[in-house]
Amino acid sequence: MPDGGGLRPVAEGIWTQLGDRIRFFGIPFDTRAVIVRLPGGELWLHSPVRPTPERVAALAALGEIGHIVAPNRIHGAFTADWAGLAPAAKIRVSPRFPERHPDIRHDAILTDAPPPAWAGVIDQCLFAGHAWLDEVVFLHRPSRSLILTDLLQRHDPAREPLIWRLLKGAAGLMAPGGGIPPDLRATFRDRAAARAARDRILGWDFDRILLPHSVPVETGGKAVFARAFAWLGP
Ligand SMILES: [Fe+2]
Repeated sequence: MPDGGGLRPVAEGIWTQLGDRIRFFGIPFDTRAVIVRLPGGELWLHSPVRPTPERVAALAALGEIGHIVAPNRIHGAFTADWAGLAPAAKIRVSPRFPERHPDIRHDAILTDAPPPAWAGVIDQCLFAGHAWLDEVVFLHRPSRSLILTDLLQRHDPAREPLIWRLLKGAAGLMAPGGGIPPDLRATFRDRAAARAARDRILGWDFDRILLPHSVPVETGGKAVFARAFAWLGP
């Protein structure tokens, strides 16, 4: 296991797992899963990365996968692979995931309220109001970590070649600030619904933000989130 299967401890009971660097519409992105160990011992796996023997072994060393979470309709890439590797795991998907991935089995749809399996440890909010992105945002309470997926990007200059540093920088997507990709920002349909979700999230107690495609915001995450969504208005 040369790279430890990409695992990086975040805090007690929570890890990220770095996967492949992928391209989406030609733009390179890192991929990272978030793994939480629930009080019963089973693992909660958010946005799993491409499974390799090292990555699978690294998670097996942490525990048994109890839940596989596809937090929005475009984050389905490896859900089926991990479901095959962990047949007892429950597959929980965003509201519009099944229409885009009718071929991937799911056990439950994620809503605005956490299921009993993780209530009290992980809170959740459907970020409503976008034309097509149905992202469910999570809060890992013990580590005060907000878990976003595609709503916010904040790329690491150390991992971006010059051309992408310039292009992503021009779009306001580089650390330390980061922001909402311009195409997503332009396609919100119901700003009142989006503001309600934003304000509910701002009411949560968090300091860190974990991002599948970007470096984490280790501290001061609430100010980063508030600034990124300030354009929605008061
Ligand atoms: Fe994504």
